[in-house]
Amino acid sequence: MNDPISRPLRLGVLGAANIARAFTSGVASSQAVTVAAVASRDAGKAERFAQECGIPRFHGSYDALLADPEIDAIYNPLPNSLHAEWSIRALEAGKHVLCEKPLAMNAAEARAMFAAARQAGRHLVEAYPYRAQAQTLKLSALLKEGAIGKVQLIRSSFGVAFSDPANIRLKPEVGGGSLLDVGSYAVSLALLVAGERPDRVSAVARWSETGVDMSVAATLEFPGGALAQVSSSFATAYHRHALISGDRGTIETTYLNHPPAGGPPILTIRRGTTVAAVPEIIEVPPGNGFLAEVESFQRLVTQGEAHWTGATPAQSIDIALTLDAIALSARSGTAIRIEV
Ligand SMILES: NC(=O)c1ccc[n+]([C@@H]2O[C@H](COP(=O)([O-])OP(=O)(O)OC[C@H]3O[C@@H](n4cnc5c(N)ncnc54)[C@H](OP(=O)(O)O)[C@@H]3O)[C@@H](O)[C@H]2O)c1
Repeated sequence: MNDPISRPLRLGVLGAANIARAFTSGVASSQAVTVAAVASRDAGKAERFAQECGIPRFHGSYDALLADPEIDAIYNPLPNSLHAEWSIRALEAGKHVLCEKPLAMNAAEARAMFAAARQAGRHLVEAYPYRAQAQTLKLSALLKEGAIGKVQLIRSSFGVAFSDPANIRLKPEVGGGSLLDVGSYAVSLALLVAGERPDRVSAVARWSETGVDMSVAATLEFPGGALAQVSSSFATAYHRHALISGDRGTIETTYLNHPPAGGPPILTIRRGTTVAAVPEIIEVPPGNGFLAEVESFQRLVTQGEAHWTGATPAQSIDIALTLDAIALSARSGTAIRIEV
Protein backbone atom coordinates (compact mmCIF):
# COMPACT_ATOMS: atom_id res chain seq x y z
CA MET A 1 0.00 0.00 0.00
CA ASN A 2 1.49 3.35 -1.00
CA ASP A 3 0.70 6.66 0.59
CA PRO A 4 0.72 9.73 -1.65
CA ILE A 5 3.13 11.59 0.58
CA SER A 6 4.82 14.60 -0.98
CA ARG A 7 6.21 16.07 2.25
CA PRO A 8 8.94 14.26 4.23
CA LEU A 9 7.73 11.09 5.95
CA ARG A 10 7.05 12.10 9.59
CA LEU A 11 8.51 9.58 12.02
CA GLY A 12 7.59 9.20 15.67
CA VAL A 13 10.07 7.52 18.02
CA LEU A 14 8.61 5.12 20.58
CA GLY A 15 10.76 5.37 23.73
CA ALA A 16 13.76 7.53 24.58
CA ALA A 17 16.11 4.64 23.83
CA ASN A 18 19.87 4.93 23.52
CA ILE A 19 19.74 3.72 19.94
CA ALA A 20 17.05 6.31 19.14
CA ARG A 21 19.63 9.02 19.87
CA ALA A 22 22.04 7.62 17.27
CA PHE A 23 19.14 7.00 14.89
CA THR A 24 17.83 10.58 15.18
CA SER A 25 21.23 12.12 14.61
CA GLY A 26 21.95 9.66 11.75
CA VAL A 27 18.81 10.59 9.81
CA ALA A 28 18.92 14.34 10.59
CA SER A 29 20.23 15.30 7.14
CA SER A 30 17.45 13.47 5.28
CA GLN A 31 15.14 15.46 3.00
CA ALA A 32 12.84 12.43 2.71
CA VAL A 33 12.23 11.70 6.38
CA THR A 34 11.93 13.82 9.49
CA VAL A 35 11.79 12.76 13.14
CA ALA A 36 8.73 14.75 14.17
CA ALA A 37 8.03 13.50 17.71
CA VAL A 38 9.31 11.25 20.49
CA ALA A 39 7.36 9.51 23.24
CA SER A 40 8.51 8.26 26.61
CA ARG A 41 6.65 6.72 29.53
CA ASP A 42 7.95 9.78 31.40
CA ALA A 43 6.98 13.17 29.96
CA GLY A 44 10.05 14.89 31.45
CA LYS A 45 12.34 12.33 29.86
CA ALA A 46 10.56 12.78 26.52
CA GLU A 47 10.96 16.55 26.74
CA ARG A 48 14.69 16.33 27.55
CA PHE A 49 15.24 13.81 24.78
CA ALA A 50 13.38 16.02 22.29
CA GLN A 51 15.44 19.05 23.27
CA GLU A 52 18.76 17.20 23.13
CA CYS A 53 18.00 15.59 19.78
CA GLY A 54 16.28 18.57 18.12
CA ILE A 55 12.91 16.82 17.85
CA PRO A 56 10.08 19.38 17.62
CA ARG A 57 7.43 17.59 19.69
CA PHE A 58 7.20 15.07 22.53
CA HIS A 59 4.55 12.93 24.20
CA GLY A 60 4.37 11.60 27.76
CA SER A 61 2.94 8.23 26.72
CA TYR A 62 3.31 5.80 23.83
CA ASP A 63 -0.46 5.87 23.24
CA ALA A 64 -0.35 9.65 22.76
CA LEU A 65 2.29 9.25 20.04
CA LEU A 66 0.20 6.62 18.25
CA ALA A 67 -2.82 8.95 18.38
CA ASP A 68 -0.81 11.86 16.91
CA PRO A 69 -2.29 12.65 13.46
CA GLU A 70 0.92 14.45 12.47
CA ILE A 71 2.86 11.17 12.49
CA ASP A 72 3.00 8.87 9.44
CA ALA A 73 5.26 6.12 10.74
CA ILE A 74 6.73 4.78 13.96
CA TYR A 75 10.34 3.84 14.71
CA ASN A 76 10.15 1.16 17.42
CA PRO A 77 13.37 0.81 19.48
CA LEU A 78 11.70 -0.62 22.60
CA PRO A 79 13.14 -3.68 24.39
CA ASN A 80 12.70 -6.86 22.32
CA SER A 81 9.82 -8.13 24.46
CA LEU A 82 7.76 -5.05 23.51
CA HIS A 83 8.39 -5.04 19.75
CA ALA A 84 5.31 -7.11 18.87
CA GLU A 85 2.83 -5.40 21.19
CA TRP A 86 3.72 -1.82 20.27
CA SER A 87 4.30 -2.44 16.57
CA ILE A 88 0.85 -4.04 16.35
CA ARG A 89 -0.70 -1.14 18.25
CA ALA A 90 1.03 1.32 15.90
CA LEU A 91 -0.20 -0.55 12.81
CA GLU A 92 -3.73 -0.61 14.24
CA ALA A 93 -3.42 3.17 14.72
CA GLY A 94 -2.72 3.46 10.98
CA LYS A 95 1.04 4.03 11.17
CA HIS A 96 3.75 2.31 9.13
CA VAL A 97 6.39 0.72 11.35
CA LEU A 98 10.17 0.46 11.17
CA CYS A 99 10.85 -1.92 14.07
CA GLU A 100 14.26 -2.55 15.57
CA LYS A 101 15.83 -5.97 15.25
CA PRO A 102 15.06 -8.63 16.29
CA LEU A 103 11.57 -8.01 14.92
CA ALA A 104 10.00 -10.20 17.60
CA MET A 105 10.67 -12.61 20.44
CA ASN A 106 9.78 -15.56 18.19
CA ALA A 107 8.28 -16.49 14.82
CA ALA A 108 4.73 -16.67 16.16
CA GLU A 109 4.94 -13.02 17.22
CA ALA A 110 6.53 -12.06 13.89
CA ARG A 111 3.67 -13.69 11.99
CA ALA A 112 1.08 -11.91 14.14
CA MET A 113 2.82 -8.61 13.45
CA PHE A 114 2.74 -9.08 9.68
CA ALA A 115 -0.88 -10.20 9.88
CA ALA A 116 -1.64 -6.90 11.66
CA ALA A 117 0.23 -4.98 8.95
CA ARG A 118 -1.78 -6.70 6.19
CA GLN A 119 -5.00 -6.06 8.08
CA ALA A 120 -4.16 -2.37 8.52
CA GLY A 121 -2.81 -1.94 4.98
CA ARG A 122 0.42 -0.53 6.38
CA HIS A 123 4.09 -1.46 5.98
CA LEU A 124 6.05 -3.18 8.75
CA VAL A 125 9.77 -3.88 8.35
CA GLU A 126 12.66 -4.98 10.55
CA ALA A 127 15.57 -2.56 10.94
CA TYR A 128 18.96 -3.93 9.89
CA PRO A 129 20.91 -0.81 8.84
CA TYR A 130 23.72 -2.89 7.31
CA ARG A 131 21.26 -4.19 4.69
CA ALA A 132 20.97 -0.65 3.23
CA GLN A 133 24.73 -0.11 3.20
CA ALA A 134 26.80 -0.12 -0.01
CA GLN A 135 28.92 -2.91 1.53
CA THR A 136 25.95 -5.28 1.62
CA LEU A 137 24.41 -4.15 -1.67
CA LYS A 138 27.78 -4.86 -3.35
CA LEU A 139 28.04 -8.24 -1.61
CA SER A 140 24.59 -9.22 -2.93
CA ALA A 141 25.54 -8.06 -6.45
CA LEU A 142 28.79 -10.10 -6.39
CA LEU A 143 26.97 -13.24 -5.23
CA LYS A 144 24.27 -12.73 -7.86
CA GLU A 145 26.80 -12.42 -10.69
CA GLY A 146 28.51 -15.62 -9.49
CA ALA A 147 31.79 -13.93 -8.51
CA ILE A 148 32.68 -16.77 -6.12
CA GLY A 149 30.56 -19.51 -7.72
CA LYS A 150 28.10 -21.54 -5.68
CA VAL A 151 28.16 -20.67 -1.98
CA GLN A 152 29.07 -23.73 0.09
CA LEU A 153 30.09 -22.35 3.50
CA ILE A 154 29.16 -19.20 5.43
CA ARG A 155 30.72 -18.12 8.70
CA SER A 156 29.15 -15.08 10.33
CA SER A 157 29.93 -13.76 13.77
CA PHE A 158 29.06 -10.76 15.93
CA GLY A 159 30.36 -10.26 19.44
CA VAL A 160 30.54 -7.31 21.82
CA ALA A 161 31.16 -7.03 25.58
CA PHE A 162 28.17 -6.29 27.84
CA SER A 163 28.29 -6.82 31.60
CA ASP A 164 26.15 -4.05 33.18
CA PRO A 165 23.19 -5.87 34.77
CA ALA A 166 21.03 -2.76 34.15
CA ASN A 167 21.39 -3.24 30.38
CA ILE A 168 18.23 -4.64 28.78
CA ARG A 169 20.47 -7.13 26.95
CA LEU A 170 21.22 -8.98 30.21
CA LYS A 171 17.60 -9.14 31.39
CA PRO A 172 15.64 -12.25 30.37
CA GLU A 173 12.29 -10.59 31.15
CA VAL A 174 12.68 -8.05 28.32
CA GLY A 175 14.14 -10.45 25.76
CA GLY A 176 17.85 -10.21 26.54
CA GLY A 177 20.62 -12.50 25.34
CA SER A 178 23.30 -12.37 22.68
CA LEU A 179 21.38 -14.49 20.19
CA LEU A 180 18.43 -12.11 19.78
CA ASP A 181 20.63 -9.04 20.05
CA VAL A 182 23.78 -9.48 17.94
CA GLY A 183 23.03 -13.04 16.79
CA SER A 184 20.03 -11.76 14.83
CA TYR A 185 22.52 -9.84 12.68
CA ALA A 186 24.75 -12.87 12.09
CA VAL A 187 21.72 -15.06 11.27
CA SER A 188 20.22 -12.44 8.97
CA LEU A 189 23.49 -12.21 7.03
CA ALA A 190 23.75 -16.01 6.68
CA LEU A 191 20.17 -16.25 5.37
CA LEU A 192 20.68 -13.32 2.99
CA VAL A 193 23.75 -15.03 1.52
CA ALA A 194 22.18 -18.50 1.36
CA GLY A 195 19.03 -17.03 -0.17
CA GLU A 196 16.82 -19.38 1.85
CA ARG A 197 16.08 -20.49 5.40
CA PRO A 198 17.85 -23.50 6.91
CA ASP A 199 15.90 -26.69 7.42
CA ARG A 200 18.05 -28.07 10.25
CA VAL A 201 19.85 -26.28 13.08
CA SER A 202 22.12 -27.34 15.96
CA ALA A 203 23.54 -25.03 18.59
CA VAL A 204 25.35 -24.76 21.90
CA ALA A 205 25.39 -21.84 24.33
CA ARG A 206 26.98 -20.44 27.47
CA TRP A 207 24.55 -18.83 29.92
CA SER A 208 24.64 -15.95 32.39
CA GLU A 209 23.51 -16.37 36.00
CA THR A 210 20.33 -14.52 35.08
CA GLY A 211 19.59 -17.07 32.35
CA VAL A 212 20.36 -15.15 29.17
CA ASP A 213 22.69 -16.66 26.59
CA MET A 214 26.10 -14.96 26.71
CA SER A 215 27.64 -16.85 23.77
CA VAL A 216 26.03 -19.03 21.13
CA ALA A 217 27.54 -21.10 18.30
CA ALA A 218 25.18 -22.66 15.77
CA THR A 219 25.36 -24.73 12.61
CA LEU A 220 22.70 -24.13 9.96
CA GLU A 221 22.01 -26.62 7.16
CA PHE A 222 20.33 -25.19 4.07
CA PRO A 223 18.18 -27.25 1.68
CA GLY A 224 20.32 -26.07 -1.26
CA GLY A 225 23.40 -27.67 0.28
CA ALA A 226 25.16 -24.71 1.91
CA LEU A 227 26.25 -24.85 5.57
CA ALA A 228 26.60 -21.87 7.90
CA GLN A 229 28.38 -21.43 11.21
CA VAL A 230 26.90 -18.51 13.11
CA SER A 231 28.02 -17.11 16.45
CA SER A 232 27.03 -14.36 18.85
CA SER A 233 28.54 -13.20 22.12
CA PHE A 234 28.33 -10.64 24.91
CA ALA A 235 31.56 -11.99 26.42
CA THR A 236 34.13 -11.07 23.79
CA ALA A 237 35.86 -8.02 22.41
CA TYR A 238 33.97 -6.42 19.54
CA HIS A 239 34.06 -8.42 16.35
CA ARG A 240 31.72 -8.49 13.39
CA HIS A 241 32.79 -10.52 10.40
CA ALA A 242 31.60 -12.91 7.72
CA LEU A 243 33.53 -15.25 5.45
CA ILE A 244 31.57 -16.58 2.49
CA SER A 245 33.18 -19.47 0.64
CA GLY A 246 32.02 -20.50 -2.80
CA ASP A 247 33.35 -23.17 -5.13
CA ARG A 248 35.26 -20.51 -7.11
CA GLY A 249 36.37 -17.99 -4.47
CA THR A 250 35.72 -16.29 -1.15
CA ILE A 251 34.40 -12.94 0.10
CA GLU A 252 34.95 -11.38 3.53
CA THR A 253 32.79 -8.58 4.90
CA THR A 254 32.30 -6.77 8.18
CA TYR A 255 28.63 -6.14 7.25
CA LEU A 256 28.76 -2.83 9.08
CA ASN A 257 25.80 -0.69 10.09
CA HIS A 258 27.94 2.42 9.86
CA PRO A 259 31.51 2.67 8.59
CA PRO A 260 34.12 2.99 11.34
CA ALA A 261 36.12 6.14 11.88
CA GLY A 262 39.20 4.20 10.81
CA GLY A 263 38.38 4.10 7.12
CA PRO A 264 35.88 3.29 4.41
CA PRO A 265 34.06 -0.04 4.35
CA ILE A 266 35.57 -2.74 2.15
CA LEU A 267 34.90 -6.23 0.87
CA THR A 268 37.83 -8.62 0.39
CA ILE A 269 37.35 -11.02 -2.49
CA ARG A 270 39.63 -13.83 -3.61
CA ARG A 271 38.74 -15.07 -7.07
CA GLY A 272 40.19 -18.53 -7.60
CA THR A 273 40.38 -21.83 -5.79
CA THR A 274 43.99 -22.02 -4.62
CA VAL A 275 46.18 -20.39 -2.01
CA ALA A 276 47.60 -18.27 -4.84
CA ALA A 277 44.31 -16.36 -5.27
CA VAL A 278 45.25 -12.74 -4.63
CA PRO A 279 42.98 -10.78 -2.25
CA GLU A 280 41.26 -7.94 -4.05
CA ILE A 281 39.99 -5.08 -1.88
CA ILE A 282 36.71 -3.56 -3.06
CA GLU A 283 36.16 -0.19 -1.42
CA VAL A 284 32.56 0.98 -1.22
CA PRO A 285 31.16 4.42 -0.32
CA PRO A 286 30.73 5.09 3.40
CA GLY A 287 27.46 6.37 4.81
CA ASN A 288 25.24 6.30 7.85
CA GLY A 289 23.22 3.09 7.84
CA PHE A 290 20.24 4.65 9.60
CA LEU A 291 20.06 7.33 6.90
CA ALA A 292 20.26 4.81 4.05
CA GLU A 293 17.71 2.62 5.83
CA VAL A 294 15.09 5.32 6.49
CA GLU A 295 15.36 6.67 2.98
CA SER A 296 14.71 3.15 1.68
CA PHE A 297 11.82 2.91 4.18
CA GLN A 298 10.39 6.20 2.87
CA ARG A 299 10.55 4.85 -0.70
CA LEU A 300 8.89 1.64 0.45
CA VAL A 301 6.02 3.64 1.91
CA THR A 302 5.65 6.06 -1.00
CA GLN A 303 6.68 3.93 -4.01
CA GLY A 304 6.31 0.29 -3.02
CA GLU A 305 8.12 -2.86 -1.98
CA ALA A 306 10.69 -2.92 -4.80
CA HIS A 307 12.35 0.11 -3.18
CA TRP A 308 13.05 -1.55 0.18
CA THR A 309 16.64 -2.77 0.56
CA GLY A 310 16.07 -4.54 3.87
CA ALA A 311 14.58 -7.83 4.96
CA THR A 312 11.26 -8.68 3.34
CA PRO A 313 8.43 -9.94 5.58
CA ALA A 314 9.19 -13.52 4.44
CA GLN A 315 12.89 -13.04 5.25
CA SER A 316 12.08 -11.62 8.69
CA ILE A 317 9.89 -14.64 9.46
CA ASP A 318 12.70 -16.95 8.27
CA ILE A 319 15.16 -15.13 10.55
CA ALA A 320 12.74 -15.53 13.47
CA LEU A 321 12.20 -19.23 12.72
CA THR A 322 15.97 -19.74 12.64
CA LEU A 323 16.51 -17.85 15.91
CA ASP A 324 13.75 -19.96 17.50
CA ALA A 325 15.42 -23.18 16.32
CA ILE A 326 18.87 -22.07 17.53
CA ALA A 327 17.50 -21.19 20.98
CA LEU A 328 15.61 -24.47 21.22
CA SER A 329 18.62 -26.50 20.11
CA ALA A 330 20.93 -24.72 22.59
CA ARG A 331 18.50 -25.39 25.45
CA SER A 332 17.60 -28.97 24.51
CA GLY A 333 20.98 -30.22 23.27
CA THR A 334 19.39 -31.71 20.14
CA ALA A 335 19.33 -30.72 16.49
CA ILE A 336 16.10 -29.00 15.45
CA ARG A 337 14.38 -29.45 12.10
CA ILE A 338 12.58 -26.32 10.89
CA GLU A 339 9.25 -27.44 9.48
CA VAL A 340 6.82 -24.81 8.28
N1 LIG B 1 19.98 -1.42 14.71
C1 LIG B 1 20.89 -1.10 15.61
O1 LIG B 1 21.97 -0.63 15.27
C2 LIG B 1 20.59 -1.28 17.06
C3 LIG B 1 21.55 -0.93 17.99
C4 LIG B 1 21.24 -1.01 19.34
C5 LIG B 1 20.00 -1.50 19.72
N2 LIG B 1 19.09 -1.90 18.79
C6 LIG B 1 17.78 -2.40 19.22
O2 LIG B 1 17.04 -1.30 19.73
C7 LIG B 1 16.26 -1.70 20.86
C8 LIG B 1 16.59 -0.84 22.05
O3 LIG B 1 17.95 -0.94 22.40
P1 LIG B 1 18.66 0.20 23.30
O4 LIG B 1 20.02 -0.26 23.61
O5 LIG B 1 18.51 1.52 22.67
O6 LIG B 1 17.75 0.10 24.63
P2 LIG B 1 17.52 1.15 25.81
O7 LIG B 1 18.47 2.28 25.74
O8 LIG B 1 17.43 0.38 27.07
O9 LIG B 1 16.07 1.78 25.45
C9 LIG B 1 14.90 1.08 25.47
C10 LIG B 1 13.77 2.06 25.76
O10 LIG B 1 12.56 1.32 25.85
C11 LIG B 1 11.71 1.95 26.78
N3 LIG B 1 11.17 0.92 27.67
C12 LIG B 1 9.86 0.58 27.77
N4 LIG B 1 9.67 -0.41 28.63
C13 LIG B 1 10.89 -0.71 29.13
C14 LIG B 1 11.33 -1.66 30.09
N5 LIG B 1 10.50 -2.51 30.72
N6 LIG B 1 12.65 -1.71 30.37
C15 LIG B 1 13.52 -0.90 29.73
N7 LIG B 1 13.15 0.03 28.80
C16 LIG B 1 11.83 0.12 28.52
C17 LIG B 1 12.49 3.02 27.50
O11 LIG B 1 12.05 4.26 27.01
P3 LIG B 1 11.18 5.30 27.90
O12 LIG B 1 11.68 5.16 29.32
O13 LIG B 1 11.51 6.60 27.30
O14 LIG B 1 9.74 4.94 27.76
C18 LIG B 1 13.92 2.79 27.08
O15 LIG B 1 14.64 3.98 26.92
C19 LIG B 1 16.52 -3.20 21.05
O16 LIG B 1 15.53 -3.94 20.38
C20 LIG B 1 17.86 -3.42 20.34
O17 LIG B 1 17.98 -4.73 19.80
C21 LIG B 1 19.38 -1.79 17.48
